[in-house]
Amino acid sequence: MKNIAIFASGTGSNARKIMEYFALRQDIRVGLVVSNRSDAPVLQIAAAFHIPTQIIERQNFTQTEDLLAQLDAFQVEYIVLAGFLWKIPPYLVRRFEGRMLNIHPALLPKYGGKGMYGMHVHEAVRQSGDRETGITIHLVNERYDEGAILFQACCPVFPEDSPAEIAKNVQALEHVYFPLVVDAFIQKRPMQLPGGEIADFPVYIPAQVIL
Ligand code: GRF
Repeated sequence: MKNIAIFASGTGSNARKIMEYFALRQDIRVGLVVSNRSDAPVLQIAAAFHIPTQIIERQNFTQTEDLLAQLDAFQVEYIVLAGFLWKIPPYLVRRFEGRMLNIHPALLPKYGGKGMYGMHVHEAVRQSGDRETGITIHLVNERYDEGAILFQACCPVFPEDSPAEIAKNVQALEHVYFPLVVDAFIQKRPMQLPGGEIADFPVYIPAQVIL
């Protein structure tokens, strides 16, 4: 059994999709949910799936390596960042090099970096006049949103779309693809797309294919 730890700071809708996806699997499971907020809704979701949770505190997270012992105790092999807002400290990046994924709600390298999260991203896309946006799933390194890209899927941005509508379309892509990418990546196999096609990483899905 391979154990994933999901790190999430907030709502946890992506975390939920991943917990659901792996719930009945014998080979890969979500073994731990880590959050920096004791009131994060993701913790309730984890509880509903009987998944243990761990709250982290900033100074401990950044100034010590205590978390590594926790992750070892749960035999965590992969980390999935699903709306986790703190920067990952170097000791954790090093330990999980090539085994830590993040999802970003835009087509990196556009609209990435510090401060680019949540609605800030979709408002920037709205103001840019870009005709498409999407999601990026990438490996995590020591710089925000700059690790190797594994997967991108696009959706159109129509002139009348508000940032909230853009967010909704992007979130729909996240919910479909994030669990599939995590699964294929951990199994070290090509992705099977919802339409049945097989694709090797890095995968790029233009908007028209999924419409
Ligand atoms: C997602 O949009 C993801 O791309 C970003 O944080 C958001 C998390 O949303 N990294 P949720 O908590 O999974 O609903």
